[in-house]
Amino acid sequence: MDKSKTPVAVPIKIAVAEAAPAVAAPQPAAPAAPVKPAYIKDPKQLVGIIHSLRGLTVEVDITGVRPDERELLIIDDYPDVFLEVSFFRANRAVCINLANSQMLRCGQAVSRSQKKVSVPVGPATMGRVFNALGEPLDDGPGITENRRVISEASGIKTYRDKQSLELLETGLKVIDFLTPFVKGRKIGIVGGAGVGKTVLTMEMIHNVTQSTKGALSIYCGVGERIREGNELYVTLKESDVLKNTVMFFGQMDATPAIRSMVGPAAATAAEYFRDEEGKDILFFVDNIYRHIQALTELSTNLGLIPSEGGYSPTVYSELRRLQDRLSSTDKGSITSVQAVYIPADDLSDPAVVAISQQLDSVLVLSRAVAEQGIRPAVDLLKTTSSLLTPQIVGQRHYDLVGKVQAIMQKYDSLKNIIAIVGENELSPADRKDYQSAKKLIEFFSQDFSVAEKFSGKPGQFFTRDQTLDGIEAILNDTAPPEDKDKKEEAKPGTTSPTAPVAATSEKPAEKTDAKAAPAAETKTADAKETKPAEAAVKAA
Ligand SMILES: Nc1ncnc2c1ncn2[C@@H]1O[C@H](COP(=O)(O)OP(=O)(O)O)[C@@H](O)[C@H]1O
Ligand SMILES: [Mg+2]
Repeated sequence: MDKSKTPVAVPIKIAVAEAAPAVAAPQPAAPAAPVKPAYIKDPKQLVGIIHSLRGLTVEVDITGVRPDERELLIIDDYPDVFLEVSFFRANRAVCINLANSQMLRCGQAVSRSQKKVSVPVGPATMGRVFNALGEPLDDGPGITENRRVISEASGIKTYRDKQSLELLETGLKVIDFLTPFVKGRKIGIVGGAGVGKTVLTMEMIHNVTQSTKGALSIYCGVGERIREGNELYVTLKESDVLKNTVMFFGQMDATPAIRSMVGPAAATAAEYFRDEEGKDILFFVDNIYRHIQALTELSTNLGLIPSEGGYSPTVYSELRRLQDRLSSTDKGSITSVQAVYIPADDLSDPAVVAISQQLDSVLVLSRAVAEQGIRPAVDLLKTTSSLLTPQIVGQRHYDLVGKVQAIMQKYDSLKNIIAIVGENELSPADRKDYQSAKKLIEFFSQDFSVAEKFSGKPGQFFTRDQTLDGIEAILNDTAPPEDKDKKEEAKPGTTSPTAPVAATSEKPAEKTDAKAAPAAETKTADAKETKPAEAAVKAA
């Protein structure tokens, strides 16, 4: 903005080869402005002249050297202007005006910088906040050394066959039960606007970073509210988690070009820690849909033809490339939690489908559930996970999931009948299942630590065993959910009928089997009672 006083005619002079002294000349015209570091023009680097400007798209007629794809082009006199070469059309370079600078004019001379967009990586970045260009957004200094180009994926591409499949506990009943959080895998939190994706993602950050003390987290904020990013920064700082976190933001105020680069920028940082330092990384994105949206906006800007649903045809391959970078190798793992916005609450939106295909678990948040005041507002029937296998979660957990899904399915169809004839007309078995389903829905609702400021209730953390015990009790009708909450609080100490809480991690299959045995013993009497109900469920 301070450059507005500089005469527009200046750049034209640049065409003269010895431009260095000429560059300094117009400066006195704007005495108040700080002296800008003028690029010394190197005629050997001259690419050509700006031919046209349309939105963020800048076409450069190549008269000199041909730049690389993705290279940053610069304009002498304006060091803040960066044009990224997107593709070539005949003898023109089609570029994106990254910072949406208003200082561009047709006829300006453009030269190569021999650089691509890069971000700082490594220990110096811990506790820092950057934008997609790697510039600091906090008060700290800029980092010039140890930078990596964001568009080039590093690391080996082979997936590790080391099947560690380590379960991480999130303390959230419904997540630990339906979409187990497994190290090195991806979980999506999918929902329309305002159903609680951000709050749930924050709760996951809160719980997982607390339980995996010292784990390295990378947070990637794409196209969402600036306020939320700020709140998260403050929260992380207060809970002393910030020092193990690197944050990247390109929120809704940024240009689509910048928004589409935050994901790759954060992935670059994660890859470094994974491949060079062999770390296990927690990677949080809010919101990955905005990445697709930014790419689509950008391609519309570049004049490419949209495809199904208005998305540009190449966004899906770009999305896959990004998701592929967020994978685990034999050196380290990247475990990601990705919030996914659903436009118009339509789960069949092609972008949402494309994102869901890349995830191991998809937790669907529903507006109908949120309206009932249930948090997290999880749609128990639409939520799916490919990690719910006996090998990963153990036989007991696996069996319970099947029963819960059957009861919820039945609840869904009974709801309509009850709306017409009333609950008393149901058969006793149906009525029992209906009641169990209602108790389960209530059971999966829990208070969040990060929501304490608006709900006034402190957050709750449940171990996976507590969750399984609670569900078993509801299915077997051994305790009303209210009493159970109290029981759960007492449980970690002495009263647990099953194995001690600590025995969860490495080899879930064996341990849960061992646990399932005593549990079965204590509940044999109840189990007999539930059999007919289950049979009824299967019949239905
Ligand atoms: N667990 C929760 N407890 C209490 N209120 C919640 C909870 N989750 C969401 N909310 C309410 O819903 C609002 C929207 O949630 P948010 O996570 O920002 O939605 P989204 O990211 O899906 O658009 C929050 O501002 C908060 O008032
Ligand atoms: Mg949100």
